Amino acid sequence: MRSTSPLGPELLLALVGSRSRPLRAQLESGLREAIREGRLAPGARMPSSRALAADLGLSRSLVVQAYEQLLAEGYLTARRGAGTFVAHALRQRLDEPRAAAPAAPRYDFFPGAPDLAAFPRARWLRALRDVLRTAPPSIFAYPDVRGLPELRFALADYLRRARAVIASGESVMVSSGATQALALLARALVQLGHREIAVEDPCLPAHRALFAAAGLRVVGVAVDEQGAQVEKLSAPVLLCAPAHQLPTGVVLSPRRRGALLAWVRQGGLLIEDDYDAELRYDRRPLAALQGLAPDRVIYVGSASKTLSPALRIGWVVLPEQLRAPFIQARLVDDLGSAALPQLALAHLLEHAEYDRHLRALRRRYRLRRAALADAVARHLSGCSLSGADAGLHALLHLPGAVDAEELLFSCEQAGVRVYPLSMHLIEQPPSTDAVALGYGNLTASEIELGIRALAGVLARL
Ligand SMILES: Cc1ncc(COP(=O)(O)O)c(C=O)c1O
Repeated sequence: MRSTSPLGPELLLALVGSRSRPLRAQLESGLREAIREGRLAPGARMPSSRALAADLGLSRSLVVQAYEQLLAEGYLTARRGAGTFVAHALRQRLDEPRAAAPAAPRYDFFPGAPDLAAFPRARWLRALRDVLRTAPPSIFAYPDVRGLPELRFALADYLRRARAVIASGESVMVSSGATQALALLARALVQLGHREIAVEDPCLPAHRALFAAAGLRVVGVAVDEQGAQVEKLSAPVLLCAPAHQLPTGVVLSPRRRGALLAWVRQGGLLIEDDYDAELRYDRRPLAALQGLAPDRVIYVGSASKTLSPALRIGWVVLPEQLRAPFIQARLVDDLGSAALPQLALAHLLEHAEYDRHLRALRRRYRLRRAALADAVARHLSGCSLSGADAGLHALLHLPGAVDAEELLFSCEQAGVRVYPLSMHLIEQPPSTDAVALGYGNLTASEIELGIRALAGVLARL
């Protein structure tokens, strides 16, 4: 809103030529509202009375009178020779509702949160600069709804190389995060006549909700220490994260991978959620299952863990029969993803900057994972960790079941937030014997302090 123009900001005020309300009163309340809503920011220079009068087709004296009224009320201030400004003192008043929002916990173990301080700002900026310098004007048109070809082809190369996915520029689609890819897939599946989908139990409640919202019946497949119990599958479609399940952190065992592939070859359709598979610490990553059955496995990935969830960039590799209904669903959604971030990511992928960034991330997260294991061993006797082979979260097993709400409340009081396993289960029982702990966005000392605070809470429960 702040303007460098001597005339001040453009002001959109709706004044109706009516007898019911004098124009001056309408002008005054329009200005008050613009200031209260923040359309005119504290400190912004107001248009000169002459300019505003000309814009609105009013007499200048009427605008002068309205300004004087708002000066008297404290909405505006005048500086001799410099003009009229929105009062700075208002900032405090306008910010009050925001200050009332609940404070964020000091130690938030949100599963899957990446280190937000690790975003490769300099690399991203270089990539954007390069893209803006060299791209043709056509990049400012509506983008290809499937994703820009630059990114689709760069992703296809990367996924073939890093994840053994069978992909081409034609089969890869870019989405607004993996979440949108799942929502669009749900609609595409319904369009193809599907009525039911199985999800891992426990899993992210948001995933169950988006399938249900598309009209699919959602059933659960229990997860044990080998992963989803695929031999118990009854639904024809399954969403599964074989590389690192959320929230348990379980990696699908070789036996279960075999069973899942057999199920797929007998006609099952698998949605492989590979959201954090690049972050693997103790051994080389397992290849994606999609590479073994590309006609029956839909591969979903995301930049949310490796770069930032704020980018809202995800991707999906689709078998032929799903491409048209997926694109159709996207066309009635939002016409595609923003072009510039797509080009910047394509640039990082093509110049091996993404790979370099991943290597640095693995080193960083390995240290954080070690800090978590260490803090748990020192402060939480009777508890154990599992599911920490990969990704950004692990599962902490408590010595016994506790009331989930009570645990959350007491943790909140102690400045810690943890994520009870029970809340990821379809039935959502009141008590929980495990919590998911994300360690990606906490430093080693924050992890230590957070676990110490959690130990204090558990000792008092
Ligand atoms: C299980 C799972 N899948 C996928 C994602 C990625 O979602 P998005 O790409 O929409 O940020 C997440 C993020 O937390 C996740 O937990």
